[in-house]
Amino acid sequence: MKWNLLRVALAALLAWPMSLAAEPKTLVLSHVVSPDTPKGKMATMFKTIVERKMGDRFRVEIHPNGTLMDDNEAVDAIAEGRIQFAAPSVSKFEAYTQKLKVFDLPFLFPDMAAVNRFQQSPAGQSLLTSMTGQGIVGLGYLHNGLKQLSANQPFEKPQDLAGLKFRIMNSDVLKKQFQAVDATPVPMAFADVYQALAEDRIQGQENTWSNIYSKRFYEYQPYIMESNHGVLDYMVITNAAFWQSLSDEDRHHFQYAIGNALGYGNAVAKAKSTNDRGELQAMPGVNLIRPSRADLADWQAVMKPLWDEYAPAIGEATLRAAQDAAAASL
Ligand code: LMR
Repeated sequence: MKWNLLRVALAALLAWPMSLAAEPKTLVLSHVVSPDTPKGKMATMFKTIVERKMGDRFRVEIHPNGTLMDDNEAVDAIAEGRIQFAAPSVSKFEAYTQKLKVFDLPFLFPDMAAVNRFQQSPAGQSLLTSMTGQGIVGLGYLHNGLKQLSANQPFEKPQDLAGLKFRIMNSDVLKKQFQAVDATPVPMAFADVYQALAEDRIQGQENTWSNIYSKRFYEYQPYIMESNHGVLDYMVITNAAFWQSLSDEDRHHFQYAIGNALGYGNAVAKAKSTNDRGELQAMPGVNLIRPSRADLADWQAVMKPLWDEYAPAIGEATLRAAQDAAAASL
């Protein structure tokens, strides 16, 4: 009897570390948009590839729609190693670097080809590692698209926005962009925007076709201007210590997964931008405002002075690389 008990205890002891080792580690990926968006689909593809290649060791748990945390918290959580992956908009890194402000400058990038050209340039790639010392490693860029202006009342000229409250991502440049047209910028988490529009706490906002459509902002924003005045793109990020702790082989698998997921997500972004614009244009309640060349020149004249103001913070070389990338599209 005594021997039997000892044998059982010994077997349990031997099995214990094996069962621990067999348990896959859960990696958290937090984001704030719907699963049916470029970022949502990229996240699902990333999870699928990681689990297909390393499912015995890693599981990816996706928290969409800001259900776990908003993006500003997610950037802090990545820096502190509380979560492993996030894909915040490039406008949400203000507390960590000033260089990414280049993406917020109004009317800098005329199209997504210019954005892509800059991101793939040495200057754009160097931004991915600009926060490593603070615990954040950029793994790549994901597109959403160019931003459009919308409001609950007709507008055409910059002065038409005077006195209106506009929701912004928490970014200094975006704050100044709306102050330049005498509107009041209201920093707010993405998840709160729909309700704030419904309650008329804000009268306008700026976002991409995909976000305006997937979050039904158009229900309270019947006037949408095809302004293409800014870019909303993402940086996929991870925690530096977690990234370093991986074996070379596992890191290679993660890089493979992220590379494929980004390729897929970027293709989705391109298709959705066209599709969701078309859906919005076809809606009886939505008025699509197409600014004339002269009107666009007016918007640019009031907003573009921000380039000079932020050039020292961004860095002349980074700004020049972005301008070069933009010039190739003109
Ligand atoms: C926003 O806050 O408007 C965006 O960052 C949302 C998103 O992630 O597309």
